[in-house]
Amino acid sequence: MNILIVGAGGFIGSHLSEEILKSHRDWKIKALDISSDKVSLLLNDSNFEFYKCDILKEFELQEELVKQCDVVLPLAAIASPLVYVQNPLCVFELDFEANLRIVRWCVQHKKRVIFPSTSEVYGMCSDQEYDEESSNCVTGPINKQRWIYSCSKQMLDRVVYAYGQRDGLQFTLFRPFNWIGSRLDDIYNENNGSSRVVTQFLSNILHGKPINLVDGGNQIRCFTDITDAIGALVKIIENKNGCANQQIFNIGNPYNELSIKELAYMIVDLAKGYDKVRSLAEKTEIKELQAAEYYGKSYQDVQRRVPSIKKAEQILGWKPSATTKEAIKKIMDYYFG
Ligand code: UGA
Repeated sequence: MNILIVGAGGFIGSHLSEEILKSHRDWKIKALDISSDKVSLLLNDSNFEFYKCDILKEFELQEELVKQCDVVLPLAAIASPLVYVQNPLCVFELDFEANLRIVRWCVQHKKRVIFPSTSEVYGMCSDQEYDEESSNCVTGPINKQRWIYSCSKQMLDRVVYAYGQRDGLQFTLFRPFNWIGSRLDDIYNENNGSSRVVTQFLSNILHGKPINLVDGGNQIRCFTDITDAIGALVKIIENKNGCANQQIFNIGNPYNELSIKELAYMIVDLAKGYDKVRSLAEKTEIKELQAAEYYGKSYQDVQRRVPSIKKAEQILGWKPSATTKEAIKKIMDYYFG
């Protein structure tokens, strides 16, 4: 199987490439990204062909690679909440427009597409567990620009689904729920809001800065270890007996429900076990601040986000196993070990 991974140099793309090269030597990857920093160790593998490409500009190369592959994973996207509120049009141009082009090439050239939707499409849905088939997608007013990511992704979900129905596009949509692991965001970047919460807290400790609990940190997420998550993605690519065709899957860990406040204390506590950051962790202050102060006034938050993973369990035979603590320890081993 020839697989095109657009955004192979990102967090998900780099972990997925690594796993495929290890476990599926009969699969070949064409990897496309603007930077190869996160996949530098894979560049010499004969099953990994890397193309440096700006997907906002170089259309010919992208279409040609789509033609050459059997399966396409368009993983390039902005996925940091601070960017949604500070640069919403960039999010629209990359996450929606650039990805729509790729989806259309898949339709035109009859390729299977495995598309990353997001837990954020459910927005502020109040269901106890978000269900792919029945939960509502609930976003806020237009002046809350945080939702431009959710809406861009939701619209693409609907477009992919409609192409599936009208033109027989073979697709699978998967929805990551707070996947965490090494290479998520840049822990060496000092700026608050430059990364998602786990990386942000590690960066805060590393730079001797306080950890900020936005609005008190009572909001709940379910953190999912990247290795577990990649296991689900590989099963989707394998697509045994076509089981993943025309399906939407939440890929998350409902057993890992945790408040952001609990997460902060867990991270500081674990960091005390590493020589490199022990003294910094011992001094790290955990403080509370308002969302408007941290993100600006067009931010709005999801208070509790838990996936139902019945579909992934039943159809893919997949179940996550790592606890949040185990996942965080692995990240710390990678950076501080
Ligand atoms: C994330 C991002 O939108 C995407 O990466 C992704 O599609 C999706 O959700 C997902 O991974 O499931 P969110 O969970 O809000 O959104 O992202 P984080 O930036 O990791 O924030 C999590 C929570 O921590 C938020 O409530 C945020 O306000 C809080 N936070 C973040 C803090 O309390 N302090 C910080 O310094 C940073």
